[in-house]
Amino acid sequence: LPAPLDFERIFAKPEQPLLIDVGCALGLFAAQMARRFPSQNFLGLEIRETMIKRARRLVATENLTNLHFEFCNATVAFERLLEQAPRAVLQNVTIQFPDPWIKKRHFKRRTIQPPLIEALARRVISGGIVFIQTDVESLAEEICSFFAANPNFRRAHSEKWLCKNPFPVKTERETVVESQKLPIYRIIFERTRPSTTVSNSE
Ligand SMILES: C[S@@+](CC[C@H](N)C(=O)[O-])C[C@H]1O[C@@H](n2cnc3c(N)ncnc32)[C@H](O)[C@@H]1O
Repeated sequence: LPAPLDFERIFAKPEQPLLIDVGCALGLFAAQMARRFPSQNFLGLEIRETMIKRARRLVATENLTNLHFEFCNATVAFERLLEQAPRAVLQNVTIQFPDPWIKKRHFKRRTIQPPLIEALARRVISGGIVFIQTDVESLAEEICSFFAANPNFRRAHSEKWLCKNPFPVKTERETVVESQKLPIYRIIFERTRPSTTVSNSE
């Protein structure tokens, strides 16, 4: 597992509300959000190191002090990375177009697994959200069933799938899928009551 992130070092204002983008690829979504919302912090997590190296060049070139990228397997390292995060900062988590791993024997490689959802429940503040979008309906259904099994989250909308991205910036994959006029399955899960396990996020 990676070392916990030192929030005093990675962000100029570590107490600002935080958005984590899991599977950020080259980090273009997080970077555009960081430019538009300087009073929030943005953390991109990505399992492919070459992408993180490229994303970090962008941070350095523009001197964005509210943006950081970390190379990790977010499925297992999410909570460890946040061990030294300030209290109650994690407002939003986005997981956009996670790799579908279509073959059954590869399901265990999928990013969103119940232990990650438990970690999210311990770290996302009450009223905070997890936004997920994918173009693979069966994957969206699986994700919904995992969240439905966790009492700390509730679906934040009455319609089954949201038709619009609630954020003002599209990811690379989203742009491609929209240009192909293919369906996108979007869901927001809201963090409800406090977790029963020890947490520094409440
Ligand atoms: C299909 S791409 C989508 C990238 C971007 N979110 C978008 O919407 O354009 C999925 C990304 O998630 C990354 N990824 C897959 N599993 C991951 C994990 N366990 N932890 C962090 N990143 C992961 C992949 O390397 C890839 O960059």
